[in-house]
Amino acid sequence: MDSNTVLYGVIGDPIRHSKSPVMMNEAFRHMGINAAYGAFHVTREQLGDAIAGMCAMGFRGLNVTIPHKVDVMAYLDEIHAGAQAAGAVNTIVNEDGRLIGYNTDGIGYVRSLKEEVELDLTGKTVVILGAGGAARGILWALAREKPSAILLANRTADKAERLAAAFSAECSVSVVNRDELQEACSDADIVINTTSVGMSPNLDAVPLDAAWLKQEAVASDLVYNPRETAFLRQAKQRGCRIHGGVGMFIYQGVYAFEYWTGQPAPIDVMRQAVVASFG
Ligand code: ATR
Repeated sequence: MDSNTVLYGVIGDPIRHSKSPVMMNEAFRHMGINAAYGAFHVTREQLGDAIAGMCAMGFRGLNVTIPHKVDVMAYLDEIHAGAQAAGAVNTIVNEDGRLIGYNTDGIGYVRSLKEEVELDLTGKTVVILGAGGAARGILWALAREKPSAILLANRTADKAERLAAAFSAECSVSVVNRDELQEACSDADIVINTTSVGMSPNLDAVPLDAAWLKQEAVASDLVYNPRETAFLRQAKQRGCRIHGGVGMFIYQGVYAFEYWTGQPAPIDVMRQAVVASFG
């Protein structure tokens, strides 16, 4: 690090668990880019000050995580179409004081699906569990892959109804209730958990019974800690292909790196850094 080091970081609350600094600093080092990436604990009340500070100090970019992905949009000068449609920003690029917001979660998710389980979503039936920020983040990118139907299930049904309504112009999105979920899963090509059920420390919790999935289906979980949730373990035992949250995390970082630097990201280096950090 010297006086020319280009600065980056991730803001969130909580933030100390983040694996982004390890992944990004390793990517910069590998590429010979003079840059440094830190993790910043920013509360909701501090969000505006943090963005102004980033700008004042000439940071080139930020990643934005829970709980700021929606609120941060109010502080930006321009929002990329994908982030606008998703209703959330996870990557900011500072173009000479002009702040541009992107969402790389959804495109990162779809790319990791294609690469890790070779799933082409065109014409497929997708079941999504959950209707929070994580579901919103991937829905726009999923819809663009032209699945035949997306079915949303959520503990709080009207949240799912609102989300389905927001995306109804993009593709066929409908809501299934608790009683319809088993049948929906038995027809699905992929079932995606976007809820926090199964996240550490609740290692035995499952969002649904994996026995409901057909054996040819893909079980996908956005949770990346643990790397293999109880839902994925059960689905694997059933013979399904499984897709964990680490790939989405890596690819959201890959796209952020490319927006910031204009260079292809060293994907394998980033993956190795993340996997090694899990121990
Ligand atoms: P995120 O940004 O991570 O998606 P969120 O916006 O708080 O976080 O959404 C969390 C999602 O997980 C929601 O769909 C939530 O369901 P509700 O809308 O009913 O709150 C779901 N969720 C969290 N804990 C859950 C649990 N124990 N059982 C079922 N769903 C749960």
